[in-house]
Order: sequence, then structure tokens, then C-alpha cells
Amino acid sequence: MDKKKVLVTGGAGYIGAHTVVELVQSGYEVSIVDNLSKSDRTLLDGIEKILGMKVSFYQGDCCDRQFMNQVFQSAGTFSSVLHFAAFKSVGESVEYPLLYYQNNLNSLLTVLETMLENRVSDLIFSSSCTVYGQPDKIPVGETAPFKKAESPYGSTKQMSERILEDVAVKGLRIVSLRYFNPIGAHPSALLGEIPLGTPNNLVPYLTQTAAGIRDKVTVFGNDYNTPDGSCIRDFIHVVDVGDAHVKAMQFLQSRDDEKLCEAFNLGTGVGVSVLQLLEKFNAVTQVNTPYVIGPRRPGDVEKVYADPAKINKTLGWKTKFSIDESLLHAWQWEKKLRGIK
Ligand code: UD1
Repeated sequence: MDKKKVLVTGGAGYIGAHTVVELVQSGYEVSIVDNLSKSDRTLLDGIEKILGMKVSFYQGDCCDRQFMNQVFQSAGTFSSVLHFAAFKSVGESVEYPLLYYQNNLNSLLTVLETMLENRVSDLIFSSSCTVYGQPDKIPVGETAPFKKAESPYGSTKQMSERILEDVAVKGLRIVSLRYFNPIGAHPSALLGEIPLGTPNNLVPYLTQTAAGIRDKVTVFGNDYNTPDGSCIRDFIHVVDVGDAHVKAMQFLQSRDDEKLCEAFNLGTGVGVSVLQLLEKFNAVTQVNTPYVIGPRRPGDVEKVYADPAKINKTLGWKTKFSIDESLLHAWQWEKKLRGIK
């Protein structure tokens, strides 16, 4: 089997696209599947510019079994699948729960069925720290129990991990990466996040405000039980996230196990508050971004950051970029997108 051929679902999205770049630069031949429902070709163009070559792209839906089978058969044998394709907006999931269950669970089930039918064993799955809810102990380790999910989006990630555990016994080798808060952009400023409509996440909202597209950032609550009263998160550079996927895939390839299902936290281990992040952003970019304090956002956890000991030790992965670099790259991408000098 050709160890170098890999399938990336959701490869035209923010995290998927950055991972595609890391995979190709590590010598892998990548095929992307994406239905472009939450993305467009901009990031595919960015990938091409960074790499100086086109990456195979199949436009279609991961929930479509016939389409997925065609991809598996026409691309040749994949050694691994990296499954990013999913909906990820917490608020939208509360409004359209069935859409989230249908899309996130059906696409995973179809990917698993297609892998089993085509005898592809290795899968890297995009999970989230949201599976922990508000953990009792911080930094949170992988053995912490899953609390009740705060949203249907969170439930789909918990259910997906449960499905993966059950299906691994059929001869699959699976790594779930529980992302904390991926931010930033490719240092070339050719790839980054393009939120649909008004951004929900903090950093794109911040960069759009600094660019003058939004009036001000609203900090959702300053009365939490944290040193400055705002929530604490573990912000991680998206290129480091991409690199962790390459290492997770290589970890599976190095193993002899016939079945395996492991979860790893993918975070830096450092907690940064929302107000601290704002301050750092202004210092790094020399922009005075306006902000106000607003009410808490329903569903937010007070503080969460990773214990990354397992991923550091087992995958030999460490963050390469600082939080300042993450913020600078996010700003450089926003400026490029808006034609700001
Ligand atoms: C959430 C999910 C995460 C998911 C991610 C992707 C939870 C606990 N986490 O991350 O699993 O992968 O979304 O969409 O469900 N904030 C402001 N003002 C803003 C925006 C955000 O103050 O305009 C604050 C939030 O209150 C939060 C922090 O910034 O404390 C980070 O928010 P955000 O970027 O939306 O990510 P999470 O909610 O942590």
C-alpha cells in the first residue's frame, strides 16, 4: 500500500486547508473532499499558491456514500483519512439541532462505512475540547469525564467519539484530536479563516474590528471567577494544529495494532483570558481595537485549557508558534483579505 496517499475531508475549510499544506510539505499526496457548503475556493487557491502546485479536489458531500466510494476508487488506495468536514457553529447548532446531528453524524458514519468497504484502516478525527464541558480540574487531561454537552454541536462531538470507540473493533485505527481554540493564519498570509457572515469566534471578530468592518468587540462577561473576570481559553496556532495531524497520522502508521482508538488534547497548556488576548492583539498589531464589556454568552464555559502531556510525549508534538505570532498572523491575513497596507 502506498503510505503517502491521504484523503482530507473538509480540506477547503480553515483547519483542513492548513493541514493540507503541512501534509504536502511532509511528502504526502493529498486528495481533498469538500462540498463547499461553508467555504469557497479561496482557501484552495491559497493552498495552491503556498505549495506552487494543485492538490486533487473532489467537490461533493461526505454524507453521499456513492460519491465517497467513487473518490476512494478513483484516487487509488488511501493509507489514511483525515476527517474535518463538519458544522462547527455552537449558536447555529442550538437553532438547527437536527441539521447538526444529521450532517456531523451522517458524514462520520459514511466516512467510516466507506473506509471499511475499501479496507482503509487509519482515521484522524476532528474532535473538540467541548466534549469536556466545564471540567472539574484544569488543566484538563484526556481521562476527564465528558460532562453534559452545552450545545448540540458539542453533543455531536461526544457522540462521534463514542461511535469511533465502538467501530474501532472492526479493524480501524483512530486518533481523535480534541482541539482547544485554533487561531491565526499561515505565516505567508495566503491562507486563513474566512468566517461566513458575522464571526462567532473571538479572533476573527477582533481582526474584523481592527480592520474597521465591525464597530467594537463585545467581551462576553467580566464577572467570571477568573483573575480579570473574563473567560480563559487555550489559543493555539492553526499551523501547529495542522502539524499535529501529520504527527498523529505518522503515529498510527508506526503502530502494528489492528485496532486502536486514542484521543489527544490539542492545546498549548497555557490559559489566556479574553481581556489578555485583546491586550496582546493591540500590542502586537499597534491597533487600538475598541471593545466594551457585555453580558455573558449562554453556553460559554468559564475556563478551560489543556494538559498537553500526552500529545507532547506520545506524538512528539509541541507548539512552534507563540500566541503573539498567532495574533500577528491572523492580523496579516485579515489585512491581505481587505487590501489594508
Ligand atoms: C467554541 C467551542 C468549541 C468550538 C469552537 C468553534 C465550546 C466550549 N467551545 O469555542 O468547541 O470548536 O467554538 O466554533 O463550546 N468571546 C467574546 N466576544 C466575542 C466572541 C467570543 O468575548 O465576540 C469570548 C467567548 O465568550 C469565549 C472566548 O471569547 O470566552 C472564545 O470564544 P470563541 O472564539 O467563540 O470560542 P469558544 O466558544 O471557546
